[in-house]
Amino acid sequence: MKHKNNNIVLIGFMGVGKGALAREIVRQNTSFYTLDTDDMIESYTNTKIKKIFATAGEDAFRALEQKTADWLANSVKNAVISTGGGFYKVNNLKEIGTVVYLKADFEWILNRILNAHNAKKKLKKRPLFQDPKKAKKLYDDRLEGYEKAADIIMDVSSDEFSKVAEKILKATL
Ligand code: S3P
Repeated sequence: MKHKNNNIVLIGFMGVGKGALAREIVRQNTSFYTLDTDDMIESYTNTKIKKIFATAGEDAFRALEQKTADWLANSVKNAVISTGGGFYKVNNLKEIGTVVYLKADFEWILNRILNAHNAKKKLKKRPLFQDPKKAKKLYDDRLEGYEKAADIIMDVSSDEFSKVAEKILKATL
């Protein structure tokens, strides 16, 4: 399912491993490079995501995501793009590249975050993951949206990431 831009766009809930998988895919196929939409936004606003949420608000952050999506669709090729958990709502997602939804159940995601060596930091930087109950509700609300937005749905919880990356490359090339 090769996209004209030859990009792979990883979508899915906070903490599912979008960044880690993007890096693993590029390790396996060095003709790609990685980009991360949160990093891009932090870089061109020179402001941390947490601060954007606290000062400008969520709507302003979503507008920055759309601006990032427009730039990606028009200007980027050969990239594996990890996205923020709400990026799947931009209006031109499929114009950017082949969209892969990284799927796992909420408990698996919560465990992955809590067991990370820098768990505190991982939680602190995510304004929408402060209260696990609210995060679970957001997860439930988004589940269908992620599936609808995707070209490919990939379960990430039953294989090593190296195997998942291999499967994504096979499915998208
Ligand atoms: C968000 C997810 C975050 C970040 C922001 C909002 C969301 O990215 O974009 O805090 O709406 O799910 P990660 O998925 O990398 O945590």
